[in-house]
Amino acid sequence: MSAFQTEVEQGVSEVLIEEDALHDRIAELGAELSVDYAGQDLLLVGVLKGAVFFMADLMRHITVPCEVDFMAISSYGASTDSSGVVRILKDLDETIEGRNVLVVEDIIDSGLTLSYLMRTLGARNPASLEVCALLTKPERREIEVPVRYIGFEIPNRFVVGYGLDFAERYRNLRYVGVLADETAGLHT
Ligand code: IMP
Ligand code: MG
Repeated sequence: MSAFQTEVEQGVSEVLIEEDALHDRIAELGAELSVDYAGQDLLLVGVLKGAVFFMADLMRHITVPCEVDFMAISSYGASTDSSGVVRILKDLDETIEGRNVLVVEDIIDSGLTLSYLMRTLGARNPASLEVCALLTKPERREIEVPVRYIGFEIPNRFVVGYGLDFAERYRNLRYVGVLADETAGLHT
């Protein structure tokens, strides 16, 4: 029997980052970004779909004017391991030439997705290009990517919630939880 209460929580084995801790850290990141981008023209680029939840909360803690745009790229199917194959499913609506671009990501795992994205966006001549990731799993890194803003470093566990999915489920959890090995194993 699970100690968790709701149907969506089935398959989650533990809470890794509580809702309050997420909100506190995101408020800090927002304050830091507001200082760093004071007087500049900031464009937040969210990576669909996982970063939507983080981005929505983060931008409400940013006190300088900013705009948002989104990209969708594929790297994962239902599997919990990056294929290394990255494809743009949806590109940005606007040009980023001369803009201060902040890529907002849910999690950096191998780094392959972000590395590809940074090369693609960098080639479009933004004034600046930085990354803000809610979570990072340093142990899993296969390729070096510079990430200026990080919410939390987490251990090598597959996590879900607060935007992060497993086979498109669990994004609506209010906390970040660890997916039970049995659950992950069923689908990989
Ligand atoms: P990377 O290319 O290996 O860095 O993978 C990045 C993407 O993989 C993230 O944007 C997520 O969509 C997904 N991902 C990596 N680790 C996890 C995890 O623990 N839970 C859910 N999704 C993950
Ligand atoms: Mg993702």
